[in-house]
Amino acid sequence: MTFDSSYVVDDMLWLDGSSNNAGKYADRFALSEDGVEMTFATNYLGHFLLTRLLLEKMAETARASGFEGRIVNVSSTIHSWFAGDDAVGYLDRVTRRKIPYDPTRAYALSKLANVLHTRALAERLREMNANVTANCVHPGIVRTRLIRDRDGLVTNTVFFLASKLLKTIPQAAATTCYVAVHPAVAGVSGKYFADCNEASPSRLGASSEEAAKLWSFSENITAEKIPKMSVHVSAGGFRLQVQSSNADRGMALA
Ligand SMILES: NC(=O)c1ccc[n+]([C@@H]2O[C@H](COP(=O)([O-])OP(=O)(O)OC[C@H]3O[C@@H](n4cnc5c(N)ncnc54)[C@H](OP(=O)(O)O)[C@@H]3O)[C@@H](O)[C@H]2O)c1
Repeated sequence: MTFDSSYVVDDMLWLDGSSNNAGKYADRFALSEDGVEMTFATNYLGHFLLTRLLLEKMAETARASGFEGRIVNVSSTIHSWFAGDDAVGYLDRVTRRKIPYDPTRAYALSKLANVLHTRALAERLREMNANVTANCVHPGIVRTRLIRDRDGLVTNTVFFLASKLLKTIPQAAATTCYVAVHPAVAGVSGKYFADCNEASPSRLGASSEEAAKLWSFSENITAEKIPKMSVHVSAGGFRLQVQSSNADRGMALA
């Protein structure tokens, strides 16, 4: 993400698809500037905020164009590794350093949050009567830069031994593309996909109660940002307009 003062804003462009893909596996504990555990902030909370800011634009586009808008959240099968019944409580304890940071658990929680976000978002879109769907995917296991914090001999050896089970990058992109554009997925919303098929999320991932809890927690934590930010869509990507007491600042997201 870079600041770009010369960015051209064009609110007339339509937005009919959004894929929330950015993610990281963070070996060490860190907090975002807002004081949120970094894996959760990167893999989920940023996507939650951006999606909220884009939602009206997507609903408007779908109304005007007559075409279904689609939001795809990139999750992982590892979401099911998060055990326990209190995702928000766990996040709070980790953030306040009441319990030790476990990178795999933090990653699993963030990916569970993607699944729960999808469920609550689909419900919200139905209530808005928007012709926009929201689904999430497990892309498959593929060697990328995701676990760059763990580069080294052990990681290389594990990937070498497991190489027959890994997907290539184009194969891993297939489920996201399928859910984003394939006619067979028209009208399907709030679901979890793997290998281009609908699949079952974990028990916690299927909980509407947990999804509603996470949604209101996320709304509260991002609330003060909503009135201060707006998103403008242009040919090159999104522009986040941030209003401060001194001046407006723009952030371009390609
Ligand atoms: N690889 C797998 O086996 C696997 C399996 C299941 C799910 N996934 C999911 O697939 C998605 C894509 O991951 P990948 O495997 O393609 O990993 P990747 O190659 O490391 O790509 C991750 C992307 O996220 C961006 N990113 C990371 N931190 C960011 C931040 N704080 N702000 C903005 N952008 C940030 C990275 O940008 P920079 O490169 O500029 O940092 C990169 O473009 C992730 O959501 C991941 O959880 C991957």
